[in-house]
Amino acid sequence: MKECKHLAIIMDGNGRWAKAKGLPRTAGHKVGADNVRTIAIAADAEGVRYLTLYAFSTENWKRSQDEVSYLMKLPAYLFRMYMKEFLQRNMRIRLIGDLRPLPDATRKVLLEAAEESEKNTGLSLIIAINYGSHDEILRAVNHYAEDIRAGRAEPGIDEAGFEQYLDTRDFPPVDLLIRTSGEERISNFLLWQIAYAEMEFIPESWPEFTPEVLHRCLEEYSKRDRRFGGVH
Ligand code: FPP
Repeated sequence: MKECKHLAIIMDGNGRWAKAKGLPRTAGHKVGADNVRTIAIAADAEGVRYLTLYAFSTENWKRSQDEVSYLMKLPAYLFRMYMKEFLQRNMRIRLIGDLRPLPDATRKVLLEAAEESEKNTGLSLIIAINYGSHDEILRAVNHYAEDIRAGRAEPGIDEAGFEQYLDTRDFPPVDLLIRTSGEERISNFLLWQIAYAEMEFIPESWPEFTPEVLHRCLEEYSKRDRRFGGVH
């Protein structure tokens, strides 16, 4: 099967899944967090090396205070439940997004998980939290401008140089982007990094996204003819 080195997923539909079952939206998020573990293991077994998951966007602060506060507690839940297993499986937790506005406790738990796993060489489980592509690109531009002012960089930058300022500087470009739950939009996720990614918009919600569904998506991906702007 064609290699999918970097898989990115917009984990949509937790709220609708819960509502359909007569449960509060937050119950969907909890099942969604448990599914992060299931899918990280399945993606690893499929040969994926980088799995980037959209856990919280720069726009998600607009949700109710209760829901935001619940979402902010999920990293602690995820790592309390599964960190031991992530470590045993040689997985490395990595982070993208602006962590500064997060509650102190959330930021701490995330940074500790990243630090604790930093020597691991298996799957990189990349959590995008308070992440937005526009925000990431603006932070990169402002950082570059600062470096020029301070004499650390020269004006005039190429693509490879600019990528060094992005949160994803250590990761390869995205090969496949999957969005669950039927919506067909990108919602400010990895805009630079998906320039040549394949896209799959699937009807299953994130809690319904099983290892079998992942396998089906990767099979579909391996049928695609990726030309990267060229002719074959
Ligand atoms: C979108 O579904 C999902 C989110 C905004 C949250 C995603 C978070 C998780 C799956 C938990 C993962 C946790 C960690 C720490 C990685 P939605 O609520 O917008 O669903 P809806 O469109 O049906 O309302």
